[in-house]
Amino acid sequence: MFARSAARALKSQSRQFSSSATRQSKVAVLGAGGGIGQPLSLLLKLNPHVTELSLYDIRGAPGVAADVSHIDTASEVHGYPADKLDQALEGTDVVVIPAGVPRKPGMTRDDLFNTNASIVRDLAAAIARVSPKAKVLVISNPVNSTVPIVSAVFEKAGVYDPAHIFGVTTLDVVRANRFLAGVTGTNPKDVKVTVVGGHSGATIVPLISQTPQGKGVTGEVYDKLVHRIQFGGDEVVQAKDGAGSATLSMAYAGARFTGDLLRAIHGEKGVVVPTFVKSPLFADQGIDFFSSNVELGVRTVLSPNGVEKIHGLGELSESEKKLLDACLPELKKNIEKGKKFVQQS
Ligand code: NAI
Repeated sequence: MFARSAARALKSQSRQFSSSATRQSKVAVLGAGGGIGQPLSLLLKLNPHVTELSLYDIRGAPGVAADVSHIDTASEVHGYPADKLDQALEGTDVVVIPAGVPRKPGMTRDDLFNTNASIVRDLAAAIARVSPKAKVLVISNPVNSTVPIVSAVFEKAGVYDPAHIFGVTTLDVVRANRFLAGVTGTNPKDVKVTVVGGHSGATIVPLISQTPQGKGVTGEVYDKLVHRIQFGGDEVVQAKDGAGSATLSMAYAGARFTGDLLRAIHGEKGVVVPTFVKSPLFADQGIDFFSSNVELGVRTVLSPNGVEKIHGLGELSESEKKLLDACLPELKKNIEKGKKFVQQS
């Protein structure tokens, strides 16, 4: 009896293993020639789940592709110039978008809206047409508006699956982990802060009280820590003095989130990370996109489902409730701005 059930378990395990081992994942990077796009492409070339890397930009993608393609990992790399977007998107499973202009000192992410909204809208329209089942990972700012833009474009095209569109907020998590480790003298690898809300200033809400390391952080130290997590991007913008915003830490964060999604697509269970998605959590207040912990998953191999489960926020401290109160109205405005832009396009 035992031998038969053990044999059955082994057989099912090996079937699972072979289906994930043989699964192909073509990943496209749109904006691959930029400050984020180049190191992101490099890091994705190192990911064993990526079998094909498709690099597109209106400037310089073939050069980046030629360079990255010499790295001795198994994936194939192809670069596409401005007029070859459709070819770049053909057969893609995951599309990562870091295309658009970055901030200069004194600018907010919302100041980028006028330029980046149309770039993201047009790229989304091409994805919806050529590769409508691809998972779309939006890095281009303002994320609070660009994710609703991509979603509205997919909806207009009649191919919208809310479980396939993600705003990449991982850099806020990376910063929260690093900065909390810094103030508590702990190792960042042991710190896991859940960051909820959106991805800009006051809409970034780190749930420090839910970590063992953060429990004793109070008063001025807490206030400064939260401010640094919310406005950490400004430190980089100022230090780069007009030459752009975070690129290397963002490439790391983007590659990490793409890697998390690919692990889930390849069958790993229990991959739970914060990401900005279509969400029911505050929909009754007219806020239908929100970042919280999301379980990434795959229901069947033929119909990959990026978002498996959206988790609630858990218990919040009094300070976190105040942060959330400040987040919601701003986030609502950002989301509405994105939706209105597509309606008027
Ligand atoms: P960058 O200017 O260095 O690179 C942007 C690239 O996009 C350029 O190579 C440009 O040619 C390309 N591009 C412009 N229009 C395009 C189009 N229609 N199709 C394809 N490519 C196009 O900027 P960087 O530093 O790489 O930042 C990119 C975006 O990422 C910005 O919007 C920035 O605000 C955002 N960002 C997001 C973060 C996040 O946490 N989600 C963090 C840091 C930056």
